[in-house]
Amino acid sequence: MSEEGQGCDRRSFLKIVAAVAGGCWLWPGSLNAAAAQLIEKTIPSTGEMIPVIGMGTSRTFDALGDQQMMASLGAVLEAFFQHGGRFIDSSPMYGSSEQVIGILLKSLTRPDSLFAATKVWTYGEESGKKQMERSRQLWGVDHFDLMQIHNLRDWRIQLETLKEMKAQGRIRYLGITTSHGRSHSELESLLERHPVDFVQLSYNIENRVAERALLPLALERGIAVIVNRPFARGSLFRKTKGKPLPAWAQEIGCSSWGQFFLKYAVSHPAVICAIPATSKTHHMVDNMGAGYGVLPDSAMRERMAAHFSAL
Ligand SMILES: NC(=O)c1ccc[n+]([C@@H]2O[C@H](COP(=O)([O-])OP(=O)(O)OC[C@H]3O[C@@H](n4cnc5c(N)ncnc54)[C@H](OP(=O)(O)O)[C@@H]3O)[C@@H](O)[C@H]2O)c1
Repeated sequence: MSEEGQGCDRRSFLKIVAAVAGGCWLWPGSLNAAAAQLIEKTIPSTGEMIPVIGMGTSRTFDALGDQQMMASLGAVLEAFFQHGGRFIDSSPMYGSSEQVIGILLKSLTRPDSLFAATKVWTYGEESGKKQMERSRQLWGVDHFDLMQIHNLRDWRIQLETLKEMKAQGRIRYLGITTSHGRSHSELESLLERHPVDFVQLSYNIENRVAERALLPLALERGIAVIVNRPFARGSLFRKTKGKPLPAWAQEIGCSSWGQFFLKYAVSHPAVICAIPATSKTHHMVDNMGAGYGVLPDSAMRERMAAHFSAL
């Protein structure tokens, strides 16, 4: 494989990927992922269904030039698809991630139902248009399913462009993102006034601020919520390190803390999907496991949050 993975034919690339993954990508639990039904939720603005577990690419996919890492990420992506994953989120802010996605999508058998989501992250109309076209070329897709305004950057200008692109059928959905609980009040007033299909925000079992206003507002306005940082960038695992899962987690089909965190995040009624990021195949397999079985009801959600905060 050349530095950018371009000089590698598909068969050789898959050999490397298989070697990296140890050839074992299927969920090791008793449930056969291929036969089981991945839980899906409905996008309110159209009624289309998408799986509750997607994939983020911040930092993890910024790997252009690292051949070993590229092969590992090929295995991560293959495992994602094998377990029914469809929704991939990226941004021009994430270094080489979009280029890496494009290279890997070319090398692997991607599902026809891939849901491609990226962001516009710049100032000015022309700059926004150029950036989105560059992202499209890097991914190698005909069009994006979802284009989001990253961190509200220049949102008044970019939103007009996105509305136009949606009207022309050049994107299917438009959205806006924030993280770390930033700009919530500005986001609230924007969501109250503008037609937005998706909002992406940080929400996890430790940081439940979005439950106060943004999640109820999204529910009321029929805006689909994507959860970023479902593991608080991995810091949730530090709190649970060495601590066993409570036995009752089995009632909702959790066999790991990762699944416990993800099932908590995606079971909020306003949330459509979570987009955990990982550079490891076994973590991908673990994360996809959260997309099967049942989701906790409100009583179970309270029990989960109380248990976590008491750790
Ligand atoms: N403003 C925005 O639009 C915005 C902001 C933040 C994030 N995002 C999006 O949301 C995505 C997710 O957020 P994030 O990447 O910041 O954080 P995250 O998904 O909460 O956490 C990622 C970390 O969790 C670890 N991890 C993943 N699965 C694991 C498992 N099963 N067990 C143990 N550790 C696991 C990963 O390490 P390993 O690599 O070792 O698995 C990585 O360090 C981003 O990639 C990006 O696409 C958007």
